[in-house]
Amino acid sequence: MAEHLEISSGGKEQKYALLYKQIQSLVEGEEDCIANMANISAMIHETFDFWWTGFYRVSGDTLILGPFQGPLACSRIAYGKGVCGTAWKEQRTLIVPDVEQFSGHIACSSASRSEIVVPLIDRANGNVTAVLDIDSEHLATFDDCDRRWLEKIVSLLRTV
Ligand code: SME
Repeated sequence: MAEHLEISSGGKEQKYALLYKQIQSLVEGEEDCIANMANISAMIHETFDFWWTGFYRVSGDTLILGPFQGPLACSRIAYGKGVCGTAWKEQRTLIVPDVEQFSGHIACSSASRSEIVVPLIDRANGNVTAVLDIDSEHLATFDDCDRRWLEKIVSLLRTV
């Protein structure tokens, strides 16, 4: 509880630094990727009070909904579609300050205003195996600080 209070009162950089350490020790003690995705979603979501935080996993030419926190979301996203499918295709993190300005954005919820999607890339073959998707109810929530830390967090996941 003391740790949670500390997380809640710090700045974004400090919150991520502490969160990263917590996730690192969690992942070190558990090799199951789904379990880790579930806890990582919960920890990020609670720390920052985002609207939706979760993973989609690559299956063939589709992303399939994985562990998440927040309201119901679409189950499948095709390669190259929406912010998630585009981050997969381009193999890079996408920050969308205003989802209405992103052509092809998939609106799982009308409350979502901005979004960041971070791909999980398999170091062995360079393939994207999953994406972390976070939605905010506010415009321009995500910046380079989020990108840096979320890429570090996602890289802690070994396999899907
Ligand atoms: N907005 C995403 C779809 C997933 S939901 O936001 C959870 C997209 O455009 O890919």
